[in-house]
Amino acid sequence: MIAIMGLGLGDSCMTWRMMVSALALMALTGTALAQGDVIAERRAGLKRMGAHMDAIKPMAEARGDVKALEPRIDDMIAWFRTMPTRFPPGSDRGDTKALPAVWSDRAGFDAANTRLLGQLDVLKAAAASGDTAAFATAFQATGPQFCGGCHRNFRAR
Ligand code: HEC
Repeated sequence: MIAIMGLGLGDSCMTWRMMVSALALMALTGTALAQGDVIAERRAGLKRMGAHMDAIKPMAEARGDVKALEPRIDDMIAWFRTMPTRFPPGSDRGDTKALPAVWSDRAGFDAANTRLLGQLDVLKAAAASGDTAAFATAFQATGPQFCGGCHRNFRAR
């Protein structure tokens, strides 16, 4: 009887342990998948931001219809507002070029993003007013100073 109980207990212990490790494994793969999604999504978003910049450039240089660029700038503002949430803890591992500084110097990272958002406001105002000269000047600074300003410290080459 004792032996049987012992066996029974041992069995359920085994089953329990297997269930726990199976659950732990599921949680781990779940996390890995979620982080993979976060990284893939932020990279896709950043590519879209790069595409906006590429599309704006010739218009800015040609002193073209900058008012028509407003939707692109709006999309950039909306997206970069979500930027800080796109680098959760753990998303430093995987197919990413984000440097460890994103997590170790989060204040610096967020500040760089806030500076870019300020510049995007300047761009939007110039576009809305149709001031092509002001737009061209603001646009020229945006890539090197405000995108590059973050990339230099927070993105691996
Ligand atoms: C606050 C910091 C920050 C700002 C501001 C920023 N970036 Fe980035 N960018 C990053 C980081 C970090 C990565 C690497 C992301 C990764 O690989 O997970 C990156 C990657 C990219 C990539 C590569 C995407 C890929 O994987 O192919 C592009 C394109 C890009 N950024 C464009 C821009 C443009 C355009 C701007 C300005 C309008 C900008 N970024 C502003 C931090 C920033």
